[in-house]
Amino acid sequence: MKSLVVERPGRLSIETRPVPEPSAGEVRIKVERAGICGSDIHILHGSNPFARYPRVIGHEFFGRIDKLGDGVSARLGARVVVDPVVACGHCYPCSVGRPNVCAELAVLGVHRDGGFSEYACVPAANAHLLPDSVDDDKAPLVEPFSIAANITDHTRVFASDVALVYGAGPIGLTVIQVLKHVYGVKQLIVTDRIDSRLEAAQRNGADRVINTANTALPAALADAGVRPTLIIDAACHPAILAEAIEIASPAARIGLLGFSAEPSTIVQQKVTAKELAIHASRLNSGKFAKVIDWFARGILQPERLITHRYGLDAYATAFDTFEHNQTECCKVQLIF
Ligand code: NAI
Ligand code: MN
Ligand code: ZN
Repeated sequence: MKSLVVERPGRLSIETRPVPEPSAGEVRIKVERAGICGSDIHILHGSNPFARYPRVIGHEFFGRIDKLGDGVSARLGARVVVDPVVACGHCYPCSVGRPNVCAELAVLGVHRDGGFSEYACVPAANAHLLPDSVDDDKAPLVEPFSIAANITDHTRVFASDVALVYGAGPIGLTVIQVLKHVYGVKQLIVTDRIDSRLEAAQRNGADRVINTANTALPAALADAGVRPTLIIDAACHPAILAEAIEIASPAARIGLLGFSAEPSTIVQQKVTAKELAIHASRLNSGKFAKVIDWFARGILQPERLITHRYGLDAYATAFDTFEHNQTECCKVQLIF
C-alpha cells in the first residue's frame, strides 16, 4: 500500500508498505478521503513537540471498515470517521471524561501512524459510523469540527452571547459555524489580517468582520459599543490573551486553543475584577457523536471549508498549496 510518511523533519514522501493487519480490538480501514491540517505541516517541519519519526501523518480521515481484529464486531464496508484521540481509559483525566489529555495520550497521525495511507488500523472504539446522509466530502471535516465542539462545551454558549472569534483559518471557521448555526449567538464578530479569510468568515456566519492588520481591535469595538461576552482565540498569537482580557465584558468566557511556547503576560486584577473564565481546549473529548449528529441534521455547512482536492500522488502540490496559499486555501482534501 502507499503511505504518506514524514521520514524525518523536512522529508515527506510516499512509501510502499505492507498492508497492516488489525490487532485484537482494532479495525482496518480502507481510507478514502482525508484532510490536511496545520499540525501535519508542523510535524513535517519538526515543530510539533509530540511527533515521533518516521510517521504516517494524517488525523482527519474517513473510509470503510475492511477487516476486523479479534473480539471486534462491526459490519465490513461500514463508512466510518476516526477519532484520533487514543487514551488509556484509567488515568485521572480519563476517569473524569477527559481522554484528550490522557496521561498516556496517543494521537493517531502524531504519536502513532495515522490516516494518510491506503489502509490504517485503529482501535474499533475510535471508528465512528457515519450515516449515509453525510457524504464523503464532509466526512474528514468531523475532526476539525470536534475542536469547535470541544471548546464550546468548555465555554458554554448562549443565544444572548456577543461572541468574538480571533482568526478565520480552518479552525476559526469551524468555531464560527458552530457559534452561529448550532447556538445562534446574537452577534458574531470575527477578526483576521487577511481580507479573503474575513470574507470566508462572513460566508460561514460572521455578522461583522474586522481586519486587524490596519485597525486596532479595542478601538473598533469601543466605537461600535461592543463588549464581547464570549471570546474564542483561533489565531493563537500569545499577545491575544491580554487583549481579550482587556476587551471582554464582565462575566465573559475566553476560550484558548493555542500551543505557543512564548509567555502571555496577563494582569490578574483584570481577570478577577471582571470574574472572567478562561478555558483551554485540546483536541476533543468524545465529541465525534455530537458532530456527526450536527452534520446529519444538516445544520452546518462543513463543505464550505473545502477549497482544494488532490489525488494522493499529487501530495506535494497539496501540501504546498495548503501551506503557502493562505489567501485562497482553507481545507485541502486528499482523495485515495
Ligand atoms: P491558521 O494559521 O490557518 O489560521 C489562523 C488565522 O489567524 C489566520 O487566518 C491568520 O491570518 C489569523 N491571525 C493571525 N494573527 C492574528 C491576530 N493577531 N488577530 C486575528 N487573526 C490573526 O490556523 P488554523 O488551522 O485555523 O488553526 C488555528 C490555531 O488553532 C493554530 O494556532 C492551531 O495550532 C490551533 N489549533 C488548536 C487545536 C486544539 O485542539 N487546541 C486544534 C487545531 C488547531
Ligand atoms: Mn486537525
Ligand atoms: Zn488515560
